[in-house]
Amino acid sequence: MLAVRSFSITARHCARSAGPRKTVSVAIQAQRYYSASKERVAKFEGVKDVNGNYTVSLIEGDGIGPEISAAVKNIFAAAKTPIQWEPIEVTPIIKDGRSAIPDAAIESIERNKVALKGPLATPIGKGHVSLNLTLRRTFNLFANLRPCRSIAGYKTPYDNVDTVLIRENTEGEYSGIEHEVVDGVVQSIKLITRDASERVLRFAFQHAEEIGRKKVRVVHKATIMKLSDGLFLTTAQQIAKEYPHIEFDAELLDNTCLRMTTDPVPYNDKVLVMPNLYGDILSDMCAGLIGGLGLTPSGNMGDEVSIFEAVHGSAPDIAGQNKANPTALLLSSIMMLRHMGLTEHAVRIEKAIFDTLAEGKSLTGDLGGKASTSQYADAIIAKL
Ligand code: NAI
Repeated sequence: MLAVRSFSITARHCARSAGPRKTVSVAIQAQRYYSASKERVAKFEGVKDVNGNYTVSLIEGDGIGPEISAAVKNIFAAAKTPIQWEPIEVTPIIKDGRSAIPDAAIESIERNKVALKGPLATPIGKGHVSLNLTLRRTFNLFANLRPCRSIAGYKTPYDNVDTVLIRENTEGEYSGIEHEVVDGVVQSIKLITRDASERVLRFAFQHAEEIGRKKVRVVHKATIMKLSDGLFLTTAQQIAKEYPHIEFDAELLDNTCLRMTTDPVPYNDKVLVMPNLYGDILSDMCAGLIGGLGLTPSGNMGDEVSIFEAVHGSAPDIAGQNKANPTALLLSSIMMLRHMGLTEHAVRIEKAIFDTLAEGKSLTGDLGGKASTSQYADAIIAKL
């Protein structure tokens, strides 16, 4: 069983600019997990209703979100997937002075244990915390899973990419601990904890087992970040001992970038795992290898709930025009089905998507085609 204990770190920062000296307190909340070493992390524990359906919370999102969500819903309905959607509204509210997700949305996701999320626009301007970041923090979604596989029929400089990258999703440079020391001098604190590192590393080894990969590689800069990345690396070496049948090694981030862009194929037999910022950048680089963010799915994995989402944004420039490519959200929903144990449905819909793309007759504009979002979805339905 998991025991959860909260701890908080309070950092006092002196900020001095044009005005009088100010002291700013920043409190961050983290959670400490104690889990038996072999315990399965990020396991789906949803239950079917009396009709044999799972309910999934659906955040349609902003901009193109409703259009690409409609494509997913139509394809799932045509494939008779045992899923019932529960649409939820996540426009943030201010609670105790902080941006928060409305209670009804939190209750829905907690009840269903799983959500599919369209892109959310981040309002520009001070005081707005990214809603995506708020979701990760609210549900403690500690691992971001980003597979990138070449798509037959869509030519890119690389033909056989099949990378699986796992990014620590809650701390590192994204801890939100930043302050101005004096005018023109700022500090940003990179927070790495053994607890969060253990969790994401264990997930990486377990995911490698699940998808049949025999190697896990940590990507790091422990040569420079001796303490922070050093802790992530030594934790990885310890966790690796729990999985003796999986080969473990480590590589410096700069080497990974150089080698991957030279030839990504040697990475096709591995699961890569890394701290937050490196994962953010490297996962977009991997998306670039297969033709961009429009094709890339992702899963934000947590012990209580998991949220699957396309990695692209709300594309306001094409919103409402029935032009958007729903592939990334669709592939995210396929990852979700696998997470829920609905593998047969996942395989069937995935095949219809890849066959439609390979055929090349009904592609959306971003892939050089002329099809609308709904025509592309109909072409997939025809192949189910
Ligand atoms: P974006 O990803 O929305 O758009 C970049 C370019 O890619 C645009 O030309 C857009 O038309 C195109 N594009 C994106 N997705 C597409 C799709 N599915 N089909 C066809 N074309 C597609 O990035 P941008 O413009 O920087 O961000 C717009 C808004 O989205 C911002 O408010 C940003 O904060 C938010 N955003 C949200 C994310 C999320 O919810 N996970 C991730 C990234 C950005």
